[in-house]
Formats: sequence, C-alpha cells, structure tokens
Amino acid sequence: MIITELICKAQEARELAYAPYSGFKVGAALLTKSGAFFTGANVENASYGLSVCAERIAVFKAVNSGEREFAAIAIVGSGSGFIYPCGACLQVLAEFSPQMNVIITDDKNNYKEYNLSAMLPQIFSLEK
Ligand code: THU
Repeated sequence: MIITELICKAQEARELAYAPYSGFKVGAALLTKSGAFFTGANVENASYGLSVCAERIAVFKAVNSGEREFAAIAIVGSGSGFIYPCGACLQVLAEFSPQMNVIITDDKNNYKEYNLSAMLPQIFSLEK
C-alpha cells in the first residue's frame, strides 16, 4: 500500500535529521505524480531561524530534480501525537500541488490523510 510505503520512507529519512537544538527529529517522504520518491529531514542551525523543515527539504530536492507535480507527502515526527506541517511548508507545497494529499502520523502507527487545500484553503499566489 502506497501510504504505508510513504510513511516507512519518512521514518527512514528521519534518521538523517540534524536537530541538536530542538531535539525534535522530523522525516518527510514525497511521492511525485510520475511515481518518484523524494525524502527530507529537518536541518537545524545554531542561528535558529535558518533551520529548515523536513517537508521543504523534500520538496526542494524534488524540484531540483525536475519534478513539480506531487501526489502526496507523509510526515513523521518524534513526539507523541500527530505532527502537522507548519504554514510555511504548506505554502511551499501549495506552490506546486495545491490539491495533493498530506499524510500525518503519530507515534502509535496511526495516520490521517488531508487534502492540502483543506489545510491551507487560501494560498498566496502572484496569479491572484
Ligand atoms: N519541523 C519540521 O521539520 N517539520 C514540521 O512539520 C514541523 C517542525 C522541525 C523544525 C525544527 O527543526 C523542529 O522541527 C522543531 O520545530
């Protein structure tokens, strides 16, 4: 099942998180419409504001590999409860695929699936 596979890839990606400041490791796995996978994990910095979320790492890797159409992203954190993507990451995802699926997970092997447009109904766009 593709959702299970995506979550598994996000868990693997989380291992590469660099999160010495927050101690909160996040992994993300992105599935493109063409069927390719791209993963990311958060990378923090001593200058805290320069830290980048797992989701944006995955998207930027995909875009820089020539992929701009996404079907789904799965996100795993390292706390208890569901991890929701931050607003900045929602905006970055919506730039490319405002109707994609966002799969969030908790620490008990549960997941929830949302359409990105439900999480961020209005996006900033220069086309408006
Ligand atoms: N973080 C992510 O990577 N993705 C999210 O969806 C939420 C937060 C990271 C940023 C920071 O490195 C750490 O989690 C704590 O906020």
